[in-house]
Amino acid sequence: MAILLSGRGSNMVALVEAGQKGILQGLAEVAVVFSNKPAAPGLATAAALGCATASLASQGKKRAEFDAEVVALLNRYAPDYLVLAGYMRILSPTFIRAFAGRILNIHPADTHQHQGLHAYEWAFDNQLPETKITVHLVDEGLDTGPILAQQAVDLRGAATLAEVERRGLAVEHQLYAATLAQLINSELRAKADEKGARFPPSI
Ligand code: GRF
Repeated sequence: MAILLSGRGSNMVALVEAGQKGILQGLAEVAVVFSNKPAAPGLATAAALGCATASLASQGKKRAEFDAEVVALLNRYAPDYLVLAGYMRILSPTFIRAFAGRILNIHPADTHQHQGLHAYEWAFDNQLPETKITVHLVDEGLDTGPILAQQAVDLRGAATLAEVERRGLAVEHQLYAATLAQLINSELRAKADEKGARFPPSI
């Protein structure tokens, strides 16, 4: 997989660790960690974890032009999945088409209820008793793609925004890797079934 980030990178760390010694071990490895922000803290963290890293600054470039450069860069690593982990850009249609059905995102709210930035603030300000972390496929809208998995976070008694985020991120870090593992396993099963259908065992 290629992991795309713009900031801190705590989800990236969770995914790398899941690949090294967790639920993704033997299933997925990180081909590259890419950022549109060359100074993103997550990029330095990824390098310290031994991941290949790459960045391209988006500043001053038109979306289509920048995305074409990113697609070309990512294709050099031949990723099966693009995993957005705090990647703060809306992807252009050309980008989505280049990796159709293979781009995942994690959103810290139920995407049917809240889209875009500041989802934890939204949950905190509205004193929600729970919020739902969502992993979804990326389409051309903002947090509108088909939902792959959701998990509730109990927010009762969370007195600060920091506490809301702490509880939410703990769920994010588990759910993202678990959802990817499920997706990869079901694709592997589908491939095996297809093979079985093409070469039926002789009785
Ligand atoms: C996470 O809350 C994620 O759900 C959202 O952006 C944040 C990224 O955090 N899309 P991190 O960089 O992975 O720590």
